[in-house]
Amino acid sequence: MENFDFVSPTEFVFGRGAEEQVGAKLAERGARRVLVHFGGASARESGLIDRVAASLDAAGIEHLELGGVRPNPEITLVREAVALCKEAEVDWVLAVGGGSVIDSAKAVANGACIDGDVWELFETKRPNPDVLPIAVVLTIPAAGSEASKNAVVSNDELGRKTGYGSDAQRPKLAFMNPELTFTLPPFQTAAGLTDMFAHLLERFFDDYGPVPVTDNLNLSLMRTIRAEAPRVLVEPDNYDARANVMWAGMLCHQGLAGLGRHEDWATHALEHELSALDPSITHGAGLAVMFPAWMEYVCEENPARFAHYGREVFGLAPTGDVLADALSAVDETRAFFASLGMPTTLAELGVAEDDIERMLPTLRANKGDAFGSLRRLTLEDAAAIYRLAL
Ligand code: NZQ
Ligand code: ZN
Repeated sequence: MENFDFVSPTEFVFGRGAEEQVGAKLAERGARRVLVHFGGASARESGLIDRVAASLDAAGIEHLELGGVRPNPEITLVREAVALCKEAEVDWVLAVGGGSVIDSAKAVANGACIDGDVWELFETKRPNPDVLPIAVVLTIPAAGSEASKNAVVSNDELGRKTGYGSDAQRPKLAFMNPELTFTLPPFQTAAGLTDMFAHLLERFFDDYGPVPVTDNLNLSLMRTIRAEAPRVLVEPDNYDARANVMWAGMLCHQGLAGLGRHEDWATHALEHELSALDPSITHGAGLAVMFPAWMEYVCEENPARFAHYGREVFGLAPTGDVLADALSAVDETRAFFASLGMPTTLAELGVAEDDIERMLPTLRANKGDAFGSLRRLTLEDAAAIYRLAL
């Protein structure tokens, strides 16, 4: 097992009515003036923003609102929010939404504490210890940003989408009420399930040997997602299924499921270029296309591990041919994503062969000339994987 230094400062308030505790919990932590940051329409229309505002009012906490965060959040709104926070001397940022809103909030919380332009952090990845504390009311289980150290933001002007990682921006409080996810459209539910499953795959397949304590936790989360996925899709208001999925989404990406391993993350890098190319591409849908293609391309590096995954997660019986077993596991993965209603080809995402060359320069800007762990991928490898996914 590799050495690690794991920080997980998030307090989780989980269950029915969790969001009603926002005001009291923030008051306990000394919040005085809060920016409530949210997305397009869902949180406003469901009345959630009003309920959160009422909870803050009841606790005597001042609050400002800034909505409009789009999926694949963009730096322009972040800059606007940073200016607002500085002007109003905001001391906490409260994200009400999913990964996009939370990531925008993380960028805002950093930007509010530095002098220069916050995009510079995403560009240089330099550590920034000064971050406003962040709280989250989660409305979609998917990205795991409610407890993760990462934020991913797009810059449309530069055609970039890139991440910034720092323990200082992990949320301090996460309010997780599974009932808030009953209103999710099936596509968003499915994209979320795909994303959380992908967060496990990224951690399971790398160039490191077995780490049983981590690997078995990871595999049990994969099995849980497989079992709960059809339940939430068929019964969107099944509380227990939604609760299992919501908690799984956090466990998949807060860090535990990869501790002591190297982890890979090549497929996320390949997907982020798709969402940078076309911001209407949903992260989970891009992953549903790219993960099976990546697996097919690299599984010869360690077929026994892919076969093990196939046995443990999909119950595949060994055939005696370990490479054939590995490829069957890849097929099962593709079929699982398809069963959720996710796309399986780039064509379904509107991405054509010509687009591949357009993505490589920004991929290089984000990842350099080689990336990934199970197999170090060159830009030629990346192009080959995109072609496999066409
Ligand atoms: O904008 P509104 O109207 O709120 O609609 C949202 C949005 O259109 C809708 N939605 C959210 N909760 C809802 C709801 N609709 C009905 N009922 C609800 N309860 O869902 C849509 C998608 O929301 P979004 O926040 O974009 O989803 P997700 O949580 O999947 O976040 C995706 C973003 O997270 C990044 C992705 O790259 C992408 O930009 N990631 C962040 C990570 C991190 N910070 O650690 C890791 C991930 O790998 C990922 O890269
Ligand atoms: Zn992801």
